[in-house]
Amino acid sequence: MRGGARSSRAAPRAGTAVTATLLILNAAEVVTMDGPAPDATRPDDAAPLGCIPNGAVAVDGERIVAVGRTEDIERTYGASPGAVRIDARGAVVAPGLIDAHTHAAFLGDRAHEHALRLRGATYAETAAAGGGIASTVRAVRAATDDTVEQALRARLARMRSFGVTTVEAKSGYGLDTETEVRLLRAIRRVRASGETRVFSTFLPLHAVDPDLRSMPGGRERFVKRCSDETLPAALAEAPDFVDAYVDSTGFSVAECRPLLERAAAAGLSARLHVGQFADVGGAELAAEMLAASADHLEHVSDAGARAMAAAGVVGILLPGAAFSLGQPMPDARRLRSLGMEIALATDCNPGTSPTENLPLMATFAVRQMGLSIVEAWWGLTRAPARSLRRDDLGVLRVGALADVCVLDLPTWEALPYQFGSALARYTIVGGKT
Ligand code: NIG
Ligand code: FE
Repeated sequence: MRGGARSSRAAPRAGTAVTATLLILNAAEVVTMDGPAPDATRPDDAAPLGCIPNGAVAVDGERIVAVGRTEDIERTYGASPGAVRIDARGAVVAPGLIDAHTHAAFLGDRAHEHALRLRGATYAETAAAGGGIASTVRAVRAATDDTVEQALRARLARMRSFGVTTVEAKSGYGLDTETEVRLLRAIRRVRASGETRVFSTFLPLHAVDPDLRSMPGGRERFVKRCSDETLPAALAEAPDFVDAYVDSTGFSVAECRPLLERAAAAGLSARLHVGQFADVGGAELAAEMLAASADHLEHVSDAGARAMAAAGVVGILLPGAAFSLGQPMPDARRLRSLGMEIALATDCNPGTSPTENLPLMATFAVRQMGLSIVEAWWGLTRAPARSLRRDDLGVLRVGALADVCVLDLPTWEALPYQFGSALARYTIVGGKT
């Protein structure tokens, strides 16, 4: 099984200046991902990869100007004065990988909860015993803005070592208005550094604020405060999306709807936590709201999955969370057969999925969730890009942003095979190495 070779696209249009600022040359394969979406009935068809053997990529500034065979790119762009040249011999060059569901702005660890789970405690039990989201909230509230920012930056740097150039990061460990805003500000500051491309998501309905939880009427007050007070304050930090935890351990559809509707009126699309522990109708809500994504999906009915597919809602599967909780993996094959486009993400968070390794999620997906390797590649590139509503990310084509990873792999098939290693020889974000 090999990716079909594509014709060279190195020839510049007449009249355009033929210069490049960055040349990536001699790749064993360039996996452009510039092919048709995977067909669920022929999951091993490699056409979606748009693979070019002995390939190269030319970049001018922050965008790609050519993708093709090395000899053609050399001929057209090789003489560009001052161009940085990267030799990708023996490597796979691919779009920078996209982790579209993380809670990476957190402090502290919850290793002890994991240890308790290994001895039989459930996630709900450890949360009720003072652990859970509330314990991370305490750590974040006690920290300075700088500390939060540094923790996020360090995490993103480690993610880049796996080839990840775009990360979505959620709030949700503040829960009161002030700390939610501080988290979004930290994410915004880290985005401004440009080291990783960052999308921010406002997630106030993650858990009930521990300060309100035990008060009579506290839960209702919290839910109302999220849309009446926290949302307007959060908008000042320009989040890209809104999220809510629609689950038996989270919030009901009725509790989530007012926040999501007000956020939609302010221009924020939803990406929702749906069905991690139980199906409470989140998939149907995501479809109705034309959400960008519905994530987790360990528990989702056929009707809910079909509704998502019909509404174009991307399903984001998070095998790290199922793995760490000792739950069955989400059934990706079933969801594909119901028409869903599938992305994979780490869910990077201290409670259920502390991993920073996105390619490892592809290993879980092909071994334990029924995805093909081609579908897994799609799930790390094009599908998460679509969930972020971007068609200039997750693909190597003329005009796309020059977010690229150079992976120490002999061929694309080796991505889920070589599991656990930090594979990136280079990561490039917006043309910068
Ligand atoms: O996606 N379940 C909701 N949110 C996270 C867990 C967060 C936490 O436990 O800190 C998740 O798995
Ligand atoms: Fe999550």
